[in-house]
Amino acid sequence: MTTSLSPRDTFYVTTPIYYVNARPHLGSLYSTLIADVIARYARLYGKTARMVTGTDEHGQKVADTAAAAGKDPQSFVDSFIPAFKQVWHDYQIEYDTFIRTTDTYHVRAVQEWLSSLIAKGDIYKARYEGWYSTASEAFLTEKDITARDDQGRPVCPLSGKPAQWISEESYFFRLSAYQDALLAFYEQHPDFITPAERMHEVVQFVKDGLKDLSISRTTVSWGIPFPGDDAHVTYVWADALNNYITAIGYNDPARAAEFDAYWPADVHVMGKDIVRFHAVFWPAFLLASGLPLPRRLLVHGWIKVGDQKMSKSLGNVIDPQDLLATYGSDVVRYYLMRYMAITQDGAFSIDDLKEKANADLANALGNLLSRCTALLVRAGASTLAPCDTYQQICAPLWRQQQEMLDAFERDMSDYYIHRAYGHVWQFIHQINAFVHEQQPWVVLKTDPERGQGILYAACAALHAAAVVIYPLMPRVMTSLLSHLGQPAPEHTGDHVAHLRMPWHRTYTITHGNPLFTKYDLTPVTPMNTPIHTPEQPKAEHTLTPIVFDDLMKVYLLVGEIVDAQPIEASEKIIKMTVNFGEYGTRTICAGIKQYYTPEQIVGRKTVFAANLPPRKLVGVVSEGMTMMAKNEAGVPTFVVIDPSVPAGTRLA
Ligand code: MSP
Repeated sequence: MTTSLSPRDTFYVTTPIYYVNARPHLGSLYSTLIADVIARYARLYGKTARMVTGTDEHGQKVADTAAAAGKDPQSFVDSFIPAFKQVWHDYQIEYDTFIRTTDTYHVRAVQEWLSSLIAKGDIYKARYEGWYSTASEAFLTEKDITARDDQGRPVCPLSGKPAQWISEESYFFRLSAYQDALLAFYEQHPDFITPAERMHEVVQFVKDGLKDLSISRTTVSWGIPFPGDDAHVTYVWADALNNYITAIGYNDPARAAEFDAYWPADVHVMGKDIVRFHAVFWPAFLLASGLPLPRRLLVHGWIKVGDQKMSKSLGNVIDPQDLLATYGSDVVRYYLMRYMAITQDGAFSIDDLKEKANADLANALGNLLSRCTALLVRAGASTLAPCDTYQQICAPLWRQQQEMLDAFERDMSDYYIHRAYGHVWQFIHQINAFVHEQQPWVVLKTDPERGQGILYAACAALHAAAVVIYPLMPRVMTSLLSHLGQPAPEHTGDHVAHLRMPWHRTYTITHGNPLFTKYDLTPVTPMNTPIHTPEQPKAEHTLTPIVFDDLMKVYLLVGEIVDAQPIEASEKIIKMTVNFGEYGTRTICAGIKQYYTPEQIVGRKTVFAANLPPRKLVGVVSEGMTMMAKNEAGVPTFVVIDPSVPAGTRLA
């Protein structure tokens, strides 16, 4: 079996630690969710996974925001911690450690780290002069200075904010001494960064020449005191990056075994704005400390609103708490992980979220479970034991399950979460197609054993899908699995290994409420105005406006029914031969057998949707759809067309 995980039994994944100058927003949630899904995936495959997240509490940016709020920095940062923990809890983030850079153990470990580098000669004191961006907490290099504001200050390329001139005494880390070692490391580890394209920027940055890095400030007081020199506090990135090792016990003799078990990290998750800190400074710090380097940096794109990055300073942030009441955490988790291509920027849209939730969750997955369980319960077959009889019919579905697992694991091994789950949904569509083709509702009546065999295969395939979807939507998958009488996957690779074997579980079926809500697709945009005026009685339903071009995509044609045959195997379907003039003659099925005899409909001219993809109904390919309206008695009636209108005329 291919899995992404290192051969050790442990797995270590981190999120960036968040500045605490505001509540977490959807961008912060995105980074954290990626790490959570990866950690849960590792646990599913039997690893003892450790996930660390936390808060980056020092530095000028946080101090400035606290001052603006009239608070001292410590009580200011303290006030945000419950909000972070609450959002992570509400979104089912299963972190193991929440580290705060103000935690005493972290402060002590960072000071010891600094002392050891001072002793080694990797840190020295000199004078720093240059431009500093508070928004990014970064010193700008000459190459970074490509644009200036109207006061002549360079604009920081990472944050888009003006930088300020700094001239002060500082401690420097001998970054330049690690230039060659870094380049050699990148060359030996071409997979260090996902996506690989980002590696080129990093290599170029290092090749352009590394200057020693200023790692202390005298004009900022909110930070870790520099060991042996009270006039200085530690530069916020030198403090923050170390959280990845202090959280697991670095520099604490009592936690040495823990540190050895988890370091080096398997993957650090981060947004594209902070790659340089993680791909250059952090490995250099680790090389200086004689520690192994992390295995992978996973760099994700930005969540945008329209075409702008979502950020507090732009005032366009979405608060994850606001989405919870309407959509619940599983649906938001699904949408962010499946539809934001992990390595690119992605626009977040509520309209799109609802559409995808309806199609992928309520229809493709929820209805599938509901159809299968309803049929089985109605047929009195709530306990389904594996049977060999229908292996022939079901074998292709089992093979599709194995192909799905291969593709899922391949993409997860590079942390391409959106692609990995794309394969899972392709499999869900295959299960739906299997059920559709095999028609267990018909077969159950004539051959119950075979009907149950078909439904067994569908349930086993659904079971496999639910196990791999579990890291993405833990709560709903627990519920889905319980309808099949299966437990939620525990933290053992056992569950996945079972999915590779021939289907062998016994399923105890229960039918229940739908797993997913179906959302009203009325757009949440200014277009979303109900189509009625105050004088008119209020319509029961509001209509979703579409653009004219969309209407013109639909071909509604007048067709003449020239032949009609009832389908034996179906209670509902009549097969019609319809003449569409210049568009030819087609076979179209309609569910009207209970209401019309063939004689009643042959010779009629009526309206058909003519450019839908062909669809197989009870073994017959239907090449269009009859447009009908139900009358008060619920009987479908035909659209009446004047006999003088030629067949093939388009309605417009
Ligand atoms: N404190 C530093 C990280 C230190 S890690 C040792 C920091 N904090 S941050 O709060 O500004 O950002 C944290 C993470 O959130 C970054 O990975 C950043 O890319 C991510 N996001 C912030 N806004 C985002 C979006 N709009 N979209 C996606 N992620 C974004 O940087």
